[in-house]
Amino acid sequence: MRTTTGWQADGSTTTLRRTQLKRRDLRPDDLAVRVDYCGVCHTDLHAVRGHDGEAGRPLVPGHEFTGVVTETGPAVTGFSVGDPVAVGNIVDSCGECPMCRAGQENFCHAFPTLTYDGLDRQDGSTTLGGYSREYVVRDRFAYPLPAALDPAAAAPLLCAGVTVWEPLRSLGVGPDSRVAVAGLGGLGHLAAKFAVALGARTSVISRSPDKADDARRLGAHDLIVSTDPDSMAGARDRFDVVIDTISAPHDLGPYLRLVAMDGTLSHLGHLGPVTVETIDLLIGRKKLSSAGSGGRPGTAAMLAFCAEQGITADIELLPSARVNEALDRLAHNDVRYRFVLDLSDLDGDVG
Ligand SMILES: NC(=O)c1ccc[n+]([C@@H]2O[C@H](COP(=O)([O-])OP(=O)(O)OC[C@H]3O[C@@H](n4cnc5c(N)ncnc54)[C@H](OP(=O)(O)O)[C@@H]3O)[C@@H](O)[C@H]2O)c1
Ligand SMILES: [Zn+2]
Ligand SMILES: [Zn+2]
Repeated sequence: MRTTTGWQADGSTTTLRRTQLKRRDLRPDDLAVRVDYCGVCHTDLHAVRGHDGEAGRPLVPGHEFTGVVTETGPAVTGFSVGDPVAVGNIVDSCGECPMCRAGQENFCHAFPTLTYDGLDRQDGSTTLGGYSREYVVRDRFAYPLPAALDPAAAAPLLCAGVTVWEPLRSLGVGPDSRVAVAGLGGLGHLAAKFAVALGARTSVISRSPDKADDARRLGAHDLIVSTDPDSMAGARDRFDVVIDTISAPHDLGPYLRLVAMDGTLSHLGHLGPVTVETIDLLIGRKKLSSAGSGGRPGTAAMLAFCAEQGITADIELLPSARVNEALDRLAHNDVRYRFVLDLSDLDGDVG
């Protein structure tokens, strides 16, 4: 085993502490990656804050990171030491099921191995995430980071970005589309940038009217205030696609009413049971959909699109020692629009 340092919740507290971690020795098709930057996803917050009581299972969050290859296993041909790479929230899959064969490893029938709190397919260990200085990853699930992209601002593309990219693409969003993005956070601001870059007339739906200037800066046409009944009523049936990135449980009805006839509400944010009035689908023959993460081809295509269009996340970069502050502020919706941790402060002895 090799050792590294990271930020871990031990199950008895929701505070992350700097801890020495073990990483597996490299398998033939593994890369060792020095993690430089890792985004703070709202899923990390759900994981850390919901972890209380699961004592004994270590949790190291972090599933959107960029860094540099420091070592390669003997069977690796696509990467060399020194290559900049990016890793998202999936680090393995069965490779054989119809979903994997279709390049949708994110939907693997045997369930993909998640970057943290997942089950390693070979040794059964719990995966530890990217809030750490080193990660060991199977080469198939690392992506060359395009030189055009700033490595810190690109990190959030690997979860937040690809999670909104795949549904936008599969729903055929393009120049004739009318798209609304509900919830202007990490996922939402990238969904807005992508929809605009794909040529769609794009709106933002937010509880926060003070985000209107940001919405316009991101290229959106307007901001619909979700807490203002007049604003919502004025947008009835207006959108071919509504991308819902809201992080809390909520009634889908008000958002379905904004979907145009035969359009789709893609519910990506808070996952779990929802209650839907079928009449909200019936009137206008509307569709309700969901998605999560991306397959290997989709992730590579998203990175190429971002490099071509110059798209990265709007970030606030913090030394990783301030990770607990980042999680607190994320819980209070106090981020525009993604925290990224700089892991270089983990070099040296565990303090
Ligand atoms: N499907 C997947 O694979 C996948 C992948 C990544 C993340 N997620 C999930 O997606 C959600 C968003 O993640 P994120 O990192 O983008 O979070 P985030 O940066 O915190 O953004 C979430 C946004 O939701 C809105 N919001 C928050 N609480 C709300 C409430 N009570 N009512 C209405 N709106 C509310 C806020 O936007 P406004 O201020 O504009 O209202 C907030 O900025 C999380 O639940 C996360 O776990 C899913
Ligand atoms: Zn995520
Ligand atoms: Zn599979």
